[in-house]
Amino acid sequence: MNIFREIPPTAGFPLHAKDFLSAFTAKVRQDDCLEKDFKNYLDVPSAHITCSGTAALYIIAKTLKEISLKRTIIIPSFICPLVPLAVKRAGFDVEVCDIEKDSFNFNSDELEAICSGRDDIAAVIINHLAGIPFDFDSIKDVVKKHGLFVIEDCAQALGALYKGRKVGTLGDFSFFSLAAGKGLTLYEGGAVLTNRMEYATAIEDKTKQLLQGNIINESMRVLQLIGYGAFYRPELFWFVFRLPEMFWDLQGKKLRAAREYFTIDFPLHSVSRFRKSVGHVTFSSLNDQIDRQRAKASDIIEGLKGLKGIRVLTEAPHDRATYPYVAVLFDEQAKQKRALEMFKNSGLGISRIYALAVSDYDYLSDFVPDRNCSNARSVADRAITLSTSFFLDQNEIDKIVQTMSHLSSSLF
Ligand SMILES: Cc1ncc(COP(=O)(O)O)c(C=O)c1O
Repeated sequence: MNIFREIPPTAGFPLHAKDFLSAFTAKVRQDDCLEKDFKNYLDVPSAHITCSGTAALYIIAKTLKEISLKRTIIIPSFICPLVPLAVKRAGFDVEVCDIEKDSFNFNSDELEAICSGRDDIAAVIINHLAGIPFDFDSIKDVVKKHGLFVIEDCAQALGALYKGRKVGTLGDFSFFSLAAGKGLTLYEGGAVLTNRMEYATAIEDKTKQLLQGNIINESMRVLQLIGYGAFYRPELFWFVFRLPEMFWDLQGKKLRAAREYFTIDFPLHSVSRFRKSVGHVTFSSLNDQIDRQRAKASDIIEGLKGLKGIRVLTEAPHDRATYPYVAVLFDEQAKQKRALEMFKNSGLGISRIYALAVSDYDYLSDFVPDRNCSNARSVADRAITLSTSFFLDQNEIDKIVQTMSHLSSSLF
């Protein structure tokens, strides 16, 4: 037994030496190879590769600023803290709408209440969290009534389908994350897309204007991507994942340990042809990887079926989630704590989504209004995530299911 064996908590795609070698070959070394992959895969008029998902959202918001005179964007209460930072940096105010109880969808009554009587709301960001398609139809009427733009946060959901339509093509603008652990990866990267032909040129112009070459940043990312290829495997992942976490924990910096501390001066620069080529090479395995993730998720979901006090968040019957991890909700906070304690040091890739509702991060208090997001708070306090990593084997899935089943019977 290797005590350092560590399964990554999310299903990042592995990268091999042959992928890097292929990226050097003349055939794939076209500057727009990865843009074309996104465009073809999603069948949208415009797609651009960015240095992060956050930068992609920033480009969308800066573009929106020239299209709309309204200056507020609504975000969900349970979302990556980078989202409000991008919105704010682009010059918009942030408004927060709580999610529903026990789901990542908006509470649509609250969304309507926020929008009615206000004329400053330009857009709403919907989030396909955990690769589970957001229920777009539940907000359609509010969006139409108040003339809102819809921005899709597809950071965790490349390849997911909502009622047969690929996420990223439901709203007016969308963005994807290509960060480490997000499936297809450039180590740090993203994609900005629009489904609206009339805004394609504006997005392209903004991307060119805001993302300029930066040789130092980009060289660093190339090295990090090569490092990812070497270390993103269970034998070595502990050293790049748990070790930094332990370092921050020892310093008492819980949010840094959880990788939930960010600043508004996130990097903005263009992505080199080499990194895009690596993304292009791996794009061809996207559907296979998603099928593999879904098969693992399905084993986990089946294994947890009927366990008392445990609820698994799953796709709706008409949708296809990508499940980069499986999100599980306990019925009480104490049970989440106990589960995290039991799985600590197991190396089985058990983690949590976000520690807090977005309005509860102290360091965001200048950017995010203080709202009572009780449903998001409750989800943060009760959720854990189970990995669907490429590296997770059947024995490990069985062990996870067994431990959850013990937890369920001992706790209730
Ligand atoms: C839901 C969600 N939105 C936005 C982001 C930001 O993406 P990136 O890390 O590529 O900037 C992330 C990634 O952490 C995310 O998970």
